[in-house]
Amino acid sequence: MNLGSESTFEVVRAEQPRRSCAKVDSDPGFSDSGPDPYVERILKASVYDVAIESPLNPAPRLSRRLGAEVLLKREDLQPVHSFKLRGAANRIAALSAEEARQGVVCASAGNHAQGVALAAQRRGIAAVVVMPVTTPRIKVEAVRELEAEVVLHGDDFDQACARARELERARGMIFVHPFDDPWVIAGQGTVAMEILRQCDGAGIEAVFVPVGGGGLIAGMSAWIKALHPHIKVIGVEPDDAPTLERALAAGKPVRLGRVGAFADGAAVREVGRETFALARRYVDEVILVGADETCAAIQDLFEETRAIAEPAGALAVAGMKRYAARSAGVGVAVAAAAAPTGAAAARRAAPVGAAAAATADSGAGPATPVNRRGALVAVVSGANLNFDRLRHVAERADLGARREAVFAVEIPERPGSFLRFCEVIGRRAVTEFNYRYADPARAHIFVGLALADPSEREAVRAAIAASGCPVTDLSDNEMAKLHVRYMVGGRAPAADERVFRFEFPERPGALLEFLGAVGGRWNISLFHYRNHGADRGRVLAGIQVDAESAAEFDAHLEALGFPYVEETGNPAYRAFL
Ligand SMILES: Cc1ncc(COP(=O)(O)O)c(C=O)c1O
Repeated sequence: MNLGSESTFEVVRAEQPRRSCAKVDSDPGFSDSGPDPYVERILKASVYDVAIESPLNPAPRLSRRLGAEVLLKREDLQPVHSFKLRGAANRIAALSAEEARQGVVCASAGNHAQGVALAAQRRGIAAVVVMPVTTPRIKVEAVRELEAEVVLHGDDFDQACARARELERARGMIFVHPFDDPWVIAGQGTVAMEILRQCDGAGIEAVFVPVGGGGLIAGMSAWIKALHPHIKVIGVEPDDAPTLERALAAGKPVRLGRVGAFADGAAVREVGRETFALARRYVDEVILVGADETCAAIQDLFEETRAIAEPAGALAVAGMKRYAARSAGVGVAVAAAAAPTGAAAARRAAPVGAAAAATADSGAGPATPVNRRGALVAVVSGANLNFDRLRHVAERADLGARREAVFAVEIPERPGSFLRFCEVIGRRAVTEFNYRYADPARAHIFVGLALADPSEREAVRAAIAASGCPVTDLSDNEMAKLHVRYMVGGRAPAADERVFRFEFPERPGALLEFLGAVGGRWNISLFHYRNHGADRGRVLAGIQVDAESAAEFDAHLEALGFPYVEETGNPAYRAFL
């Protein structure tokens, strides 16, 4: 780790014996050997030349639904719409005059890049940002507008990072790590410092923090556990990028082979060493959430605030919903309310619930601990979303919230059977309906239904089955949701057809490149592609592979290097394509 010339952090850490990695429930925060050195680093962090103290807003709708006071820490309102500028600002503020003259370099596809560019601009120093060529134009433009030099290199963060390290050496610049750096961690820790100033920590049950490389949770957890060890610090990760969860299970950072890119801010393959050391000591739990749940959380946040979070920015809310569902009705010992502290705080801060407001208004003394549900705080960490991704988010939000279910149903191909099927569905709202003749005896229906309650899903499936129609629940079938619903047809007589779902780096000309790589040796018999505005394109392809060339084809597929899943056995393919 490059700590520049001011490596006092390393000295302090060397003097500080590591505390046990056991749970910290009863940890008073300040042991005999003193507080964690990060407490001082966070107190001294210099972020407010660039960042704002973001509001901590009450979320009345979520509070009602989850049966707990919900507070949202609005980092989406920062000047570059994410918390990442805090860490970058603190790192850049710590540069010596000589280092500042050398300028800074970083690698990032989005939020860190904007944070570094803005902080460097404010300090009047040169910044080079290496971004993968797949980075959406809107983010590249945002960094250029902040006067940073943009170098487009590689298809992913790792390749961009390797190039940034080369530039660090070649141009003698200072590398600003996106998370594994004590100054960056301390800068991110100021989010927690503000939360515990904005409301009374005694009334908080848990704080939910999105995790990528772990910089945010490392800084926040160090502060929270030092001041209020009873508060649970819960990390939230996408279920296809569980870097911290795996690392905690293994007892050390683990490099994942491949991670999902939907929540791009959290799509990191390995947590940092320093961030892991802190998370292991202070984080109580990691919750994993799916992409559809994240879309549902984006919708919740929109309904609450009219702001649109990016997927990583909504992870904490998705995790909080899981936690609340799991622990519904469970009270914990907290003070009666997380009352705002002081008159200034009362103006600025979120009052935690009616009880809190009453306490604050009446000027009553400190609340007495009672056994009840404490406040749940979620960090809304960013809002840098490409507009064209909204279509996908909106499509998935209802499925993610279990307010919609999709089914494949086979009905007899004879007059009146379609009508009978509709009678079984009854007066439920139909969100989607595709009907297709399959053969003289059968027809297939792909149907989406709005659900009043998640438990209805199984009841509907059972009712359809009881009517004598074979039915398959496709609500968790990624291929059906991503492709088949847009291309329902009859089965084609394509011999030896095998079906694959591919991902490839999304950039202009990429589709052509992909087709070129698949090559002309085998016939493509089916193809579906949709641009989701994300950095990876997703394709469903049917390819005719005869028995003699099967081994050659499999070897070719491996050599292509595109991540893929074979879907030949998928019931949605069998029924509709
Ligand atoms: C919006 C957003 N949320 C969460 C994260 C994860 O932060 P960290 O890498 O510090 O864990 C990032 C990282 O870039 C982000 O941009």
